[in-house]
Amino acid sequence: MSQFGDYQQEIYLNGLGGVQPSFPFTHAELESAAEAVLPRSVWSYVAGGAGDEFTQRANVRAFERWGLVPRMFVGAAQRDLSVDLFGLRMPSPLFLAPIGVIGLCAQDGHGDVATARASELTGVPMVASTLSVDPMERVAEELVDTPGFFQLYTPTDKDLAENLVRRAELAGFRGIVVTLDTWITGWRPRDLSTSNFPQLRGHCLANYTADPVFRALLARSPEEDPGAAILHWTQLFGNPLTWDDLPWLRSLTALPLIVKGICHPEDVRRAKDLGVDGIYCSNHGGRQANGGLPALDVLPEVVAAADGMPVLFDSGVRTGADVIKALALGATAVGIGRPYAYGLALGGVDGVVHVLRSLLAEADLIMAVDGYPTLADLTAEALRRVS
Ligand code: FNR
Repeated sequence: MSQFGDYQQEIYLNGLGGVQPSFPFTHAELESAAEAVLPRSVWSYVAGGAGDEFTQRANVRAFERWGLVPRMFVGAAQRDLSVDLFGLRMPSPLFLAPIGVIGLCAQDGHGDVATARASELTGVPMVASTLSVDPMERVAEELVDTPGFFQLYTPTDKDLAENLVRRAELAGFRGIVVTLDTWITGWRPRDLSTSNFPQLRGHCLANYTADPVFRALLARSPEEDPGAAILHWTQLFGNPLTWDDLPWLRSLTALPLIVKGICHPEDVRRAKDLGVDGIYCSNHGGRQANGGLPALDVLPEVVAAADGMPVLFDSGVRTGADVIKALALGATAVGIGRPYAYGLALGGVDGVVHVLRSLLAEADLIMAVDGYPTLADLTAEALRRVS
């Protein structure tokens, strides 16, 4: 049976044949290589966060406060990283977090499609953002048999929201992720200093401009009058949802409904009572509100409040060891964000595949070395605080 850790053998064997790896293996090298190839405005948008980026850094550092305790005489020759999520059997607990400008990170400008291809090649599910260069139907085509999820930024126009969800269902997405922390954009000094907000420049709006409900709201088509379409988009993008809206969101689909941005146990319980299927614990990678706790620090209480309901997690995951720690703290599935954007910038589909395979290989080999053969073995008992 093949194991994710086999990726390292492949690399060493290629080396014997004189073939050197094309992509870096550490996050720091990946990040600086991506910075060198991305246009300045895209780089700042992806790498930057809210305020002085304290929360963004804290997300990453939070992982350093935990260490895994090795167990010996386990003989973990075979590891099983597969996971059941909303009735779907996934080969691993990784998923690709939604990234709104991922389209622009690819050198051919079609990064949503490239990410979907990488998802299909690795079996790592993609959460496709509402904000994409190519419309969701095109992205879904590339997923083939790998389950994908559609991330909804809920517009103020309810008919449009309903139509986006209907289109996601028809396109074959297997769940709807509603992001709650981005109805307004956080204070982002890097983007402010270059006065760059990609959507205002007409980027990543294909899901709107392709939508008949959106088009019907315009006096002239987006092709005839792109400026008016963008202006209209700014007026309906962000819906400051309240609990009273959750029954309506729930009524939109029979697909699993997952709410993203939940970090407080009381919010978990309320969302659960109102019928959501999954909680997505995240602080948007520190891009939205600075001064917050690292998402990892709130994960255990979110998991406890979820009381058996799946908890997806992201924010600050940079290594396979981070993946293992998030799982041990109770995450059902772990989202990769910026690292795959950098892989995409460097090498398109191959770059994303490399990032995912590297994370999975490291996670798998840690489970082998430390004697945790299955995800069920990875509990909080496996972790200690680093003193
Ligand atoms: C995001 N994220 C995001 N989330 C979402 O729900 N919809 C979106 O369109 C986007 N767009 C987006 C763009 C960029 C450039 C980034 C970096 C992130 C947030 C994303 O899903 C995830 O929560 C964070 O990326 C996790 O933080 P790290 O691990 O990437 O630091």
